[in-house]
Amino acid sequence: MTGHADAMRRLDAAGAFSGAPWVREAMNAVRREAFVPDVIWRDDGDLYTRVDRRTDPAGWAAVVGGRGPVVTQVDDGADAEHGEVATSSVSDRLAVVNFLTALDVHPGQRVWEVGTGSGWTAALLAYRVGPTGRVVTVEIDRALADAARARLGAFANTVEVVTGDGEDGAPATGAGGRWDRVHITAAVTRRLPHTWVEHAKSGAVLVLPFSPPFGSGSLLRLVVGDDGTASGRFVKSVAFMPLRGQRGSGHDVFEEIRTAHPDHDTHPVDWHLAGVSADGNHIQALALKLPDVHRAIGKGGAKWWLHDGKDSWALVDDTPDAGHAVQGGPRRLWDEVTAILAWQDDAEIHAYDFGVTVEPDAQWAWAGAPGRRWRM
Ligand SMILES: C[S@@+](CC[C@H](N)C(=O)[O-])C[C@H]1O[C@@H](n2cnc3c(N)ncnc32)[C@H](O)[C@@H]1O
Repeated sequence: MTGHADAMRRLDAAGAFSGAPWVREAMNAVRREAFVPDVIWRDDGDLYTRVDRRTDPAGWAAVVGGRGPVVTQVDDGADAEHGEVATSSVSDRLAVVNFLTALDVHPGQRVWEVGTGSGWTAALLAYRVGPTGRVVTVEIDRALADAARARLGAFANTVEVVTGDGEDGAPATGAGGRWDRVHITAAVTRRLPHTWVEHAKSGAVLVLPFSPPFGSGSLLRLVVGDDGTASGRFVKSVAFMPLRGQRGSGHDVFEEIRTAHPDHDTHPVDWHLAGVSADGNHIQALALKLPDVHRAIGKGGAKWWLHDGKDSWALVDDTPDAGHAVQGGPRRLWDEVTAILAWQDDAEIHAYDFGVTVEPDAQWAWAGAPGRRWRM
């Protein structure tokens, strides 16, 4: 049995195609393997290791036939034996099924995509919209865009690959007019560019991975209103690499912030951190209420390092012999976390009842209904 057949069988067994049977047909017609380059990168835990199909066909097939995404670029195109950060990939099949199902795309529609990568998802979209539809896909990395353009040759009448920054909005060239669907395949970590909404029709659907730095990752589905806004809920949990312009400051700055703001206080911790991390409802509430707070988690989940990227920090440790939170800077980040956890427990809001509204000059998160909102 081939990797493709195995993967499709797993997706069928999980009922993945029940919401959009056309995706199954498209994935059989436009196989993921055809979009995977000869050089890919195996995730070895601490780093990525180069695997070249020409010298290691079995190793290549093992990575491509496995679960999850296939990393196709590391460190923005570094040509070494190892890499640290995955910067492009052919997406995980299940994630693609979920995105395309939520996008609800139909024959004849115009679709704008951000994050061409290998070109596989653009090809699936082209298959769906057919000869009367149009797909314009934008990729920020020139080498990746050129390679995807070559791979998409069979769809050249329907798909245009543009080299550029998708955060700048839909390109002036290409299909022209407004978009029926917007498919974003690199994660928003902070702000959704309003340009994505501006160039979409009223009633258009946008799907995107949303990954605030607190550590949650979800598929967000927005519908464009007739007033220049877009609004919608989270529909699935998903992990995607960030848009190039929205990469976080990461854990590295924690020590800098702590050193610059050494005054601190210490409190006992009466939350079980691993339990909070495992609770998708709690994490969604924290991620949306604290959109500027970055969280790093220690091995085993019993330690959190929090910072706001500016001047506040907290180190929280719930191991039995420690059990305290140390926090410094003008904000008390652990106090903010515990207040949100108490609010979430009280309000009992499910992760998928949270949503986001984008307006020309503001972005809001909300809990349950757009009326109960706060500025992000
Ligand atoms: C997860 S990959 C895309 C997966 C792809 N659609 C597929 O067929 O599987 C994300 C891609 O987004 C690209 N990207 C990141 N930031 C971008 C931006 N601001 N504009 C356009 N592309 C961007 C990356 O270079 C990367 O190739």
